[in-house]
Amino acid sequence: MVTGAAGQLGQALQASVPQGIELIALTRQGLDLADTKACTSLVRELKPDWVLNAGAYTAVDKAESEPELAQAVNAGAPAAFAEALAQTGGRLLQVSTDFVFAGNQGSPYRPDQPVQPLGVYGASKAAGEQAALALPGGQVLRTSWVYGPVGKNFCLTMLRLHALKAAAGEPLGVVADQVGCPTATTTLAAACWRAIGVGKTPSEPGPEQPRILHHSDAGAASWYDFALAIGELGVTSGLLERAAQVTPISTAAYPTPAQRPAYSLLDCTLSRAALGLKPIHWRAALAQVLASLG
Ligand SMILES: NC(=O)c1ccc[n+]([C@@H]2O[C@H](COP(=O)([O-])OP(=O)(O)OC[C@H]3O[C@@H](n4cnc5c(N)ncnc54)[C@H](OP(=O)(O)O)[C@@H]3O)[C@@H](O)[C@H]2O)c1
Repeated sequence: MVTGAAGQLGQALQASVPQGIELIALTRQGLDLADTKACTSLVRELKPDWVLNAGAYTAVDKAESEPELAQAVNAGAPAAFAEALAQTGGRLLQVSTDFVFAGNQGSPYRPDQPVQPLGVYGASKAAGEQAALALPGGQVLRTSWVYGPVGKNFCLTMLRLHALKAAAGEPLGVVADQVGCPTATTTLAAACWRAIGVGKTPSEPGPEQPRILHHSDAGAASWYDFALAIGELGVTSGLLERAAQVTPISTAAYPTPAQRPAYSLLDCTLSRAALGLKPIHWRAALAQVLASLG
């Protein structure tokens, strides 16, 4: 059972559903994640083997003024799923975020490090992780800077802005002092399927799967680097006639209601080994996503 079916990851999961899997894809219309009773009763009714909770309140800035709703969706729903799954014998994959970390250590975060969220969104997702881990069959998969060919994301926004700014002959200022790693929904969906044991053979070597997994594409980038690459690869893939000139700006020059981690790279080494996944550099993944848009 996949929640958030209309979201970026939800759509990628549906596009990549492996053979032999019967998928129940739920959009907001099928299940309101803020309604804990509905979450519990639907799991009791459908008795899924797995709930892949890809649905979330993802409006990081708006969450600062809607903390109750963010908490209900991001923490209440996984808690309700966990409670019901404990009775039905199903398992839970809770998708989480680099925003559970403060981003002040200057080296990649390992899965076993303590969380320290900076804002309402991160705190609500951290509470969702705890709810999932309270279920013996609960798994957490953290990811970062998610983008893909559909939905609301930085890549699609930058493609629009590159076209607009290039036509107007104006520079495009992008934050350069926040570092993380872009992650394509295609590789994230593949990691989710692996995390629930699909596509892994019993004889496949590798360490035992930890309960908290990290998945991002490989490498590191600032939003500035990412925007620059979107312009360059947007031109080579034929999506843009011209790229705008991208100029680095500071976080202070682009104030937002929610504070963001300055350095939120996820250490994916152990998770990749456990899931049997080969890393793909974020720039190569970006080229593939842009090619799919052409
Ligand atoms: N996007 C990122 O950069 C990022 C980074 C790290 C981790 N993550 C995590 O990755 C997961 C997938 O994110 P995404 O990028 O696919 O997010 P997304 O595109 O924003 O999709 C989230 C989905 O959740 C649904 N949703 C929100 N509130 C709901 C409610 N009350 N009831 C039912 N459905 C509700 C939304 O429905 P509507 O379409 O109807 O609004 C949307 O389809 C989330 O757990 C997120 O926290 C995302």
